[in-house]
Amino acid sequence: MRIDILTLFPQMFAGPLSESMIKLARERGLVDVRLHDIRDYTHDKHRTADDRPFGGGPGMVLKPEPIFECVEAVVPQGTPLIYMTPQGRPLTQAKAGELAGLEGFALLCGHYEGVDERVREALVAEEISIGDYVLTGGELPAMVLVDAVVRLVPGVLGDEESAQQESFSPKNLDCPHYTRPEVFRGRRVPEVLLSGNHGEIARWRREQAEKRTQERRPDLTNGEF
Ligand code: ADE
Repeated sequence: MRIDILTLFPQMFAGPLSESMIKLARERGLVDVRLHDIRDYTHDKHRTADDRPFGGGPGMVLKPEPIFECVEAVVPQGTPLIYMTPQGRPLTQAKAGELAGLEGFALLCGHYEGVDERVREALVAEEISIGDYVLTGGELPAMVLVDAVVRLVPGVLGDEESAQQESFSPKNLDCPHYTRPEVFRGRRVPEVLLSGNHGEIARWRREQAEKRTQERRPDLTNGEF
C-alpha cells in the first residue's frame, strides 16, 4: 500500500512514522508512506502557501496553486485524495477497513481556515474528520488515520486475530485484560481466567464486553453508531 501525505509540516510525522507498528510495516515493505512538502511547489522567494480570504474575515486560506502542482507531481493517477477536515465524515473502524483494502490513497492536511474551495471541487475525492473538535491542522488527524488503516493491512499485525477481537469489530467494546502477577497490590485477577476452562473464559469475556458496552457506549449497539 502506498500513502502520499501532502502537508506544510512534514517534520511533524517523523516520530509516529518511525516507531512501533508503522515502522515495522514500512521496514517489511508492506506500506510505503511518502511525505510531500506543499511549500516545495511554491515559486516565490518566501514560499507562500497561504493568503487572505476574498471577502475579508479572519485567518488565512491555503492557496490553490501549490496544492494543485503538488498533487499533479506526486499523486498517481486514479489515487483518491482525502482531505482531513472537521467538516468531513467521521472516521470509523469501517472506514479504516475500507481504506486498508486500497492499493493506495493520498492525504491532504489543511491549516488555518482551510483550503481554497477549488481544491475541494477539483481534487478531493473524500473529506474525513477524526472527531467533533477543531485541531490546528490536518497533520495529527492524518497520523491517526494512517495508524488506524496500516494496522489493518494484512501482515502488519503479527496476530491477525487481535485486530478482529478488539473494540468495534464487531460493535462492542473490548473485555478487560490481565497479565502476571496474579495478585498485584491486593487486586486479584478474576478466578475464571486462571481456570483453564476455555469455554468459561470465552463466556466471561463476552459478558464483560457486553456489560462495558452497555455502561459506556450503548449507542454502539442501538444502531446510532
Ligand atoms: N483538521 C482540524 N481538525 C480536524 C479534525 N477534527 N479532523 C480532521 N481534520 C482536522
